[in-house]
Amino acid sequence: MYRKVLHPPRFQLEEQKIPFRKFFPALLVLAGATTTIQTSAADNRDDWPTTAGDGNGSYHSPLTDINTTTVSRLGFAWDAALHTHRGQEATPVEVNGVLYGVGNFGRLYAVDGGTGKELWTYDPAADGQYGRYACCDVVNRGVAIKNGILYLESLDGYLHAIDAGSGRLLWKVDTFPGRGSRLPYTSTGVPVIAGDLVLIGSGGGDFKGTRGYVAAFDAQSGALRWRFYTVPRNPALGQQDQPALMAAVKTWDPRHQWENGGGGTVWDGISYDPALDLIYIGTGNSSPYNIKEDGRTGGDDLYTDCIIALHAKTGDMAWHFQVVPGDMWDFDSTQKFIFADLPSKNGARPVVMQASKNGFFYVLDRRTGEFISARPFASQNWTKGLDPKTGRPILSEAVDYSTSPKLVFPWVGGAHSWQPMSFDARSMSVFIPAQEWSEIMLDTSHRKAGMVEGEFNTNFITPDGYDPAALKSLYGSLPPLKALAKGVTLQGRRGFIRAWDPVHQRLRWETQTASGWDGGLLSTDGGLVFQGDVNGMLNVYASATGTLLKSVAVGTSIMAAPMTYRIHGVQYIAVMAGYGGGDLGVLFPDKSAALRYGNDNRIIALRLDGPAPPLPAERASLTPVAPPASMGSKEDISEGSVLFNRFCARCHVFGVGILPDLRRLTPAKHEIFSAIVRQGVLSGAGMGRFDDVLSEKEVQEIHAYLIDEARNDYRDKSTPK
Ligand code: HEC
Repeated sequence: MYRKVLHPPRFQLEEQKIPFRKFFPALLVLAGATTTIQTSAADNRDDWPTTAGDGNGSYHSPLTDINTTTVSRLGFAWDAALHTHRGQEATPVEVNGVLYGVGNFGRLYAVDGGTGKELWTYDPAADGQYGRYACCDVVNRGVAIKNGILYLESLDGYLHAIDAGSGRLLWKVDTFPGRGSRLPYTSTGVPVIAGDLVLIGSGGGDFKGTRGYVAAFDAQSGALRWRFYTVPRNPALGQQDQPALMAAVKTWDPRHQWENGGGGTVWDGISYDPALDLIYIGTGNSSPYNIKEDGRTGGDDLYTDCIIALHAKTGDMAWHFQVVPGDMWDFDSTQKFIFADLPSKNGARPVVMQASKNGFFYVLDRRTGEFISARPFASQNWTKGLDPKTGRPILSEAVDYSTSPKLVFPWVGGAHSWQPMSFDARSMSVFIPAQEWSEIMLDTSHRKAGMVEGEFNTNFITPDGYDPAALKSLYGSLPPLKALAKGVTLQGRRGFIRAWDPVHQRLRWETQTASGWDGGLLSTDGGLVFQGDVNGMLNVYASATGTLLKSVAVGTSIMAAPMTYRIHGVQYIAVMAGYGGGDLGVLFPDKSAALRYGNDNRIIALRLDGPAPPLPAERASLTPVAPPASMGSKEDISEGSVLFNRFCARCHVFGVGILPDLRRLTPAKHEIFSAIVRQGVLSGAGMGRFDDVLSEKEVQEIHAYLIDEARNDYRDKSTPK
């Protein structure tokens, strides 16, 4: 999870091609796939009962009506408006012809899978203040269903049990520890059912004060059964919550500032293996990122950046594998898992697989946690490789930013983030939505933009926003980009689908996608891989070769993974469309559907022989509004610029982004500026109050800065060139 670049300066980096092979010197790129395991007829199914379609996290369907031959006929079936305009990350579930999708803040939509007709919606009435604590948009990744009960986690951390027929609330329970102290936890994940338990973690590891956990609730009553904390609490406070944490304490720097929390949040990947009765969780980054702040030496920081197996009955740890010991780069190991039985010398071996944010693809024994293999699936410069026996990374000095800024691959958004990958067991192919981008990370402990409550705990800057002159007021003097990028080929942000052979750990094929932030994947026995993109295209590739077979223009930017199901003999592909997510402060890219048509969220369904989808109306061009008279002194404006960058810029960028450009406020909004920022009058929309960290005078300074920027912008735009 990450923070946005600072602005205003932006320049386009030259798109340069790096040969992919450079990072895979030993790899043979195979065209096509080999078939090793056949799916049984019993796997054949029309429903899509979990967000991943099954319990293995596959995002793969046995349906074949839409296939390499028929896909050319793919067209529109229906759409359903969500009445929001933020990011959509959920993959809906479908049971008995009804689709259940979750949108912003945890709003749940039940629609008829054949027509898109809305059956009911459930609004969890989440506390909008948590919109301020969401690192990466007020998103949600979906719902779980069992025995006619839907389990939903709202952004503000309540687990809701809802009757699937009526949409009526059965019960809800608080899942956040220490609610009263308003720690910046948020919840965006999919509840996972494990026998008679419902499991849920939280986000918040990028902010000060959170301590990661996974909590297990009784699926019938909602009673808390157990909670497993992933990082120790302050040892000075005495006993740890679990024995495993006693061992963990020793791996933290003795000078760690425990009041800053420890991170390790379980914000995405949770899986359950009923045969082993084990729960698998992925844990996030250490908090703060910079574990070497103030001359600390850091440590492994257990159990951050781990894949952990827990006994379902007790919540006790069975085993752990630390993916990134001593993480300073926000390499959460939270990505969703896929279970498979991979061939080995001793027959089929049950494994858990993860394409980590850190750029490596991991295969572990699901029973013991034994490290089987890992290879890079994307460019990385943070290791010199992994120990072949243990999988422990051999860290590279080149990325230790505790003494001076460093350029790091992958960036904090990861080489692979929450966007689901998919797995075709017949061809033993994993399809990974991979990203390649770098960032500059820098120590901020003694700078003006240091750590504050409810804000990101470390700064990073993407290369296209790195302008030492403009950043001087925030960070002091910084080295030029050229010096940082020495020996590295810089490139624009790029995305790929990479078909990966997890047995031999090698690339089968790759294809470049529209941007560095496109959608999750669905694959099918029809020989297809589906992915939506930022340009509002639903693209379909041949799973054997990566050849693009069909693109359907839907007119809404997509990040979520599509799913598929069949009703009355008709196969549908459905996806929740809307842009935002990880890059909250993002500007809509030039060719994005969000820029052209706006970001009105909807569920879109496709089927064979449908017409072309109806496109939304194009948005009106945004002309700057005439700004009010300037206010404040030069010093106020300068102080306001620092405060704006520290508290506001991660959400409000200048330009066309998912949240308002504050240089274009209406007179009415100028009027109530202070009430918005200090009293939270727009908190229902996710604009939380900031009176805990900003005085009235400081808010006036931010206002003065924004008016100054608005006047500059207006002058630029209205002066004929
Ligand atoms: C976590 C993200 C986030 C942060 C940080 C944030 N805002 Fe907001 N802001 C929002 C959202 C969400 C809205 C409402 C957008 C909508 O209307 O849908 C909003 C709306 C506003 C509006 C009203 C804009 C309009 O045209 O209606 C103002 C003014 C504003 N924010 C000021 C600020 C200031 C000043 C800061 C920094 C102190 C700040 N915001 C920080 C998310 C954020």
